[in-house]
Amino acid sequence: MAGNDKRGIWSRRDFFTRLGWGGLGVVSALGFLGFIRAAFPRVLFQPPSTFKAGLPSDYAAGEVSEKYKQDYRVWIVREEEGLYAIFAKCTHLGCTPRWLAAENKFKCPCHGSGFYKDGMNFEGPAPRPLDRFKISVGEDGQLLVDKSHTFRMKPGEDPDEQYPQSTLKV
Ligand code: FES
Repeated sequence: MAGNDKRGIWSRRDFFTRLGWGGLGVVSALGFLGFIRAAFPRVLFQPPSTFKAGLPSDYAAGEVSEKYKQDYRVWIVREEEGLYAIFAKCTHLGCTPRWLAAENKFKCPCHGSGFYKDGMNFEGPAPRPLDRFKISVGEDGQLLVDKSHTFRMKPGEDPDEQYPQSTLKV
């Protein structure tokens, strides 16, 4: 048949028509997958930034409580003058120090930085004291630690002098 561009099973027109519909199908499928994906947003479940830490009377004077270290990375320290909440994150490269009660200090296992009970750095490469979080008393009388409110310590200055308000006088 002269002038007929049909070759094989499909004509050229059939081929391009199918190609067009196929492309549309792929684009529609991708759009649908995107829609389904949007129905399941990537949510990071983290512990709330504020947590209750019991009653002030739960803490004995001189005590460093590790009760909230595992879940919230916080030590609650009770001194004669009040309570403060220390962020258990080394100010060198972010490891979690340990409280060594016998030596009365925090010690970082990574590179050996040491911190006094008030968070002041005194040995190793840590450049500044440990940070603290705001601690207050809620309406029910329980302690509230607010991890969204950080007292970021500067180097070379006693934490209690930098942020006296980080100690809750109770
Ligand atoms: S991370 Fe703590 S001393 Fe390096």
